[in-house]
Parts: sequence; C-alpha cells; structure tokens
Amino acid sequence: MVSKKVKDLLNNQVNAEFYSAYLYLDFSNYYKDAGLDGYANWYMIQAQEERDHAMLFIQYLQQQGEAVVLEAIDKPDKEYKEFIDPLEMGAEHERVVTDLINKIYAAAYEEHDFRTMQFLDWFVKEQAEEEDNADDNVTKFKLFGSDSRSLYELDAEMKARVYTAPSLTLD
Ligand code: FEO
Repeated sequence: MVSKKVKDLLNNQVNAEFYSAYLYLDFSNYYKDAGLDGYANWYMIQAQEERDHAMLFIQYLQQQGEAVVLEAIDKPDKEYKEFIDPLEMGAEHERVVTDLINKIYAAAYEEHDFRTMQFLDWFVKEQAEEEDNADDNVTKFKLFGSDSRSLYELDAEMKARVYTAPSLTLD
C-alpha cells in the first residue's frame, strides 16, 4: 500500500520525466536546426530514455493499484545562445531530477515503504549515470567544441549513440 504522500510524489515524477523528454527534444531540435546531427541524435535518444522513465513510474503506480493522473507538460522555455548552452542546462536539469528522486526515496523511507524504495534503487543508480553523462558532454565540449574540426568529430561521436531499452522492467 502506497501512502498518499508517496503516491503523489510518484505521480508528479511521471510529469517530471515527460517534461525531461520534452526538454531534451527541444535540445535535439535546436541542434538539428544548427546542423549538428550528432548532438540532435544524442538528445533524441535521451528523450526516448526519459519517456521510458515516465512509463516505468506509470507501470509501478498501476502495479500498486493506484490511478495515474496525467497533468499538462510545461513548454520548454529555454533560450540557447551558444552550442554549449543545452549541455549545461541538461547537466543542471539532471541534478534537479536527482533531487526529485531523492525526495521520493526519503518519503518512502520515512514510511517504511520498502517496495517503493526497492523500485527507486534503479533510479538512484540511473541518476548517477545521467549526471555523469551530462557532465561529460559539458567537459568534452569545453575541451574541443571551440575548434570547428574537433566539433565535427565530437558531433560524429554523438551520432554513434544508439537507443537501448532500460534494464529495469516491470511485469
Ligand atoms: Fe529520467 Fe534523465 O532522468
């Protein structure tokens, strides 16, 4: 049995994950328009991952017999002046998401909701990876992004990313 507080936080996370997908699609569109197809690809795949995260929260709530309420997804309102901007915003955004996951975990812990804690364990680990990848993108861009030839190679590297389904599955 999930408490109302934990249920509401889990439900809110559905929206937060869909917003992340929306934000990363916006990044992807920006790079596509700029001719950086590799970065566009990287964020398109990232958006798919975020959608997967949202679906996992939906499935988990449904497994617990809880109704899911879908709220409106905010419009991404970021403005990008330089190619590095979405990368830095992405790194910052992942830290916000980590904080949200930690808050759900803390609420579940307080209520001895071990099942939800176990479900969230995957996300705690995932967030460490997400932050690491986002920070890597910023670091690499700072190192090589100012030179057009290196940027071309960086973009090609980003194009090599392929989608993989999440390792967490819920029946
Ligand atoms: Fe679903 Fe990037 O966190």
